[in-house]
Amino acid sequence: MKFFVDTAEIDQIKELNDLGMVDGVTTNPSLIAKSGRDILEVTKEICDMVDGPVSAEVVALEADDMLAEGRKLAKIADNIAVKVPLTWAGLKTCKTLTDEGTMVNVTLCFSANQAILAAKAGATFISPFIGRLDDLNLDGLELIEDIRTIYDNYGFETNILAASIRSANHMSDCAKIGADVCTAPPNVIKAMANHVLTDKGLDAFMADAKKAGIKIV
Ligand code: G3P
Repeated sequence: MKFFVDTAEIDQIKELNDLGMVDGVTTNPSLIAKSGRDILEVTKEICDMVDGPVSAEVVALEADDMLAEGRKLAKIADNIAVKVPLTWAGLKTCKTLTDEGTMVNVTLCFSANQAILAAKAGATFISPFIGRLDDLNLDGLELIEDIRTIYDNYGFETNILAASIRSANHMSDCAKIGADVCTAPPNVIKAMANHVLTDKGLDAFMADAKKAGIKIV
C-alpha cells in the first residue's frame, strides 16, 4: 500500500520523505489555506521534493473554469495530479484532463456510485473520505470495501486513495481491504509506530543492559 502525506507543510513532508515513508502528497484548499502560502509556490516546492504524485485541487465549480485551473496546475510539474470534486463538472474535467495525459484525483467521494462514475471518467485516483463518514456514524471502511469489490469485478484501473484518515487503525484496516493508497496527516503515519508493549519491552531491555554493563561502542 502506498503512503501519501495529507498536508502542505513542507517541513513535515520532508521529515517523512527522508525516512522513505512518502509515496506522494495530497493537498486541498483547506490544507493550502492552513499553510498560509501561495498554492502555486508551495505545490511547486512539494513537487520538487517528492518523486510521487502530488495532488493539487482546483477551486472553480464550473467545468470550463476547472479545466483552465487544472491545466495551469498540471504545468507546475510532471508529477502533479489535478484534484477535482465529485460533481458532473469535476467528472467532465477529469475526462478531458485524463485524455490529455494528466493524472486526476477525484475527491470528496462518499458512495460507491460516485466511485463508479470516477472510474468511468478515467480517474487516476478516487478519494473516498473515511473519517467524514465515520463522523456521521456511517461506515467509511465499508465504502472502501465496496469500491474495491466493484473495481475488481470490472477491472477498473482507478487507484483507491483512502482519505480523511483519522487513525493508525484506519491505515492497517485499509491495507487489509486492499486500498491502493492511504493519504494521512503526518501525525497519523507517525502514530503507526506506537505500541505500549514496545515501550515496556524497550525499558526492560535498557534496564537489563545497564545492570549488566553492556557496552557496544
Ligand atoms: O485529502 C482529503 C483530506 O484532507 C480530508 O481529511 O480530515 O478534512 O476529513 P479531513
